[in-house]
Amino acid sequence: MKLSNRILALKESPVRKLVPIATKVKKTGKKVYHLNIGQPDIKTPEVFMEAINNYDTEIIKYSFSAGEPVLIHAIQDYFKRDGIIFDEEDILITNGGSEAVTFSTIAVCDPGDEILVPEPFYTNYNGFTGEVNAVIKPITTKAEEGYHLPKKEEIVKLITKKTKAILFSNPGNPTGTILRLDEMEMIAEIAREYDLFIISDEVYRGMAFDGLEGVSMGTIKGIEDRLIVLESVSKRYSACGARIGAICSHNKEFTANILKLCQARLCVATLEQIGAAALYGLPNSYIDSIKTEYQKRRDIAYNSLSKIPGVVCEKPTGAFYFIFKLPVENAEEFIIWMLEEFELDGETIMIAPAEGFYATEGLGKNEARIAYVLDEVQMTRAMYILEKGLEAYQKVNN
Ligand SMILES: Cc1ncc(COP(=O)(O)O)c(C=O)c1O
Repeated sequence: MKLSNRILALKESPVRKLVPIATKVKKTGKKVYHLNIGQPDIKTPEVFMEAINNYDTEIIKYSFSAGEPVLIHAIQDYFKRDGIIFDEEDILITNGGSEAVTFSTIAVCDPGDEILVPEPFYTNYNGFTGEVNAVIKPITTKAEEGYHLPKKEEIVKLITKKTKAILFSNPGNPTGTILRLDEMEMIAEIAREYDLFIISDEVYRGMAFDGLEGVSMGTIKGIEDRLIVLESVSKRYSACGARIGAICSHNKEFTANILKLCQARLCVATLEQIGAAALYGLPNSYIDSIKTEYQKRRDIAYNSLSKIPGVVCEKPTGAFYFIFKLPVENAEEFIIWMLEEFELDGETIMIAPAEGFYATEGLGKNEARIAYVLDEVQMTRAMYILEKGLEAYQKVNN
């Protein structure tokens, strides 16, 4: 028997592959500060459980394949606050933003078709596209340019007859970069000129710092028929385990076909949809409080990183990530060493190696990503451990 080439070609998630090492190390009594995965520590708003507790039913029935109307209406209202109008049938509820990316890729790509993605990108895009034999064509962005997009000429050079879409997360994971309006307009222009879909992954929307707004691609005019906006409650509402996301598009042919995929997997968990509807109903003041909290943590991480000799990083303006260059040859080896060999009073940290966030061979080897998902006290301590760990590592390796 032989497994499919498709599955064999998939790579392990770089964010999770070192977890067994951390688990082993923790069994020895060492404390590990986890900055490797985007699991927020902020309490899920109470309205989530309240709505579920108040849901009066004797049978947990299948939900509608397209999703619970109460949740769809709440997402409509969420977009309406920014002047973006989606009809009820424009929104399909998915198992997290993850399923939303997979379904969108299935709908726009045949095997061998290409999707442009600015790199470094959310590493699971490799999995979502690989599952359906679509190919990521990376648009390389650089730390020195704050991971903003290159000029239009550079991007259109990558377009072939097989290019079907441009996919990006905004705010970006792992870059924390928020696209400027001119970049969003440029994407829209390229998509119109080359007849591409735009898949705008907005699972971190609202998490924008320094007074930036971080607007939805849905505010850009003239792309209604080609725009697919992806949503999730995981990050903004700190509800990763709820597994609730959504695909939103004005393209009726696209959504009617996505509905077939929704029907094939029957439905998304009923109770979590009820809870998620309450989350989308939270006022903007909730999002403002989250922003303030993450901005403080971003500042702690940035102030520490920018002081460490040899570290190269730009100040990110959104989401809760940082990607930076380390003064080491191989970031993964350093991260494993931090786990296995280093400790400061019985404590160490775990960060994510960044190579897997790139599609271009050789890029990201000396880079790592931090998710600032710990409170201020723990962040300060974790960053101190990183600084001391790097000092010790360089002594050992010189
Ligand atoms: C950019 C981006 N998109 C999508 C997802 C998937 O999120 P979920 O499936 O939890 O909604 C993540 C998770 O980290 C992400 O960072």
